[in-house]
Amino acid sequence: MDGLKRQAAARALEEVRDGMKLGLGTGSTAKHFVDLLGEKVRAGMKVVGVPTSEATRAQAEACGIALTTLDEIDHLDLTIDGADEVDPALNLIKGGGGALLREKIVAAASDRMIVIADDSKWVDALGRFPLPVEVIPFGLAATKAAIAKAFAEAGVAGQMVLRTAKDGHVFVTDGGHWIIDAHLGRIADAPRLAGLLSVIPGVVEHGLFIGLAGMVVLAGAQGIRVVERR
Ligand code: A5P
Repeated sequence: MDGLKRQAAARALEEVRDGMKLGLGTGSTAKHFVDLLGEKVRAGMKVVGVPTSEATRAQAEACGIALTTLDEIDHLDLTIDGADEVDPALNLIKGGGGALLREKIVAAASDRMIVIADDSKWVDALGRFPLPVEVIPFGLAATKAAIAKAFAEAGVAGQMVLRTAKDGHVFVTDGGHWIIDAHLGRIADAPRLAGLLSVIPGVVEHGLFIGLAGMVVLAGAQGIRVVERR
């Protein structure tokens, strides 16, 4: 699987041009991309990156990639990131690694987003992977009730689990928030659910990335498949 992730990352690297401002994703697939980009930079390529997590920042710095922030610049040429699920409309579930908020801010500030993944991430409909919903700790029960109402309106249901870290404590995001993982099974209308979740006050962000990915690079046993959004 790791070899496939690296192949997808290598294919996406072909889209990177000298001088680009890049969004750098988070997760085990994006890690390969940052690694390969680092090789290019050491060979003389000039790019500047905005990392989507503290983990990616540390890796990019170690690789010698010049970094900036979305305070210093307001727009990026291209973001390359992984995903937990991709559907045929190129809508995504992201946030398995907990970086969904910065990932979405960075992707939304980019002219183009390319998703890199092994082909196990390709699904007919989103939802088998638990949907991460990033929430403010204050008023959690009220926020969960509002989320449950949104689920009902969107025709989905399932257990909501507060994410914990390996040490058993509540998982805290880079932004200081918590994550609820919603086990929904199948989300028939992901854009509708995304809209309903976005207006809940205690919800900071959710892992449905609608209309952001322009291209997906899927690596599988049969080779690389590139899917572009129509
Ligand atoms: C991080 O928050 C996520 O959105 C990742 O991009 C996603 O979980 C994919 O990670 P892997 O490449 O490790 O599967």
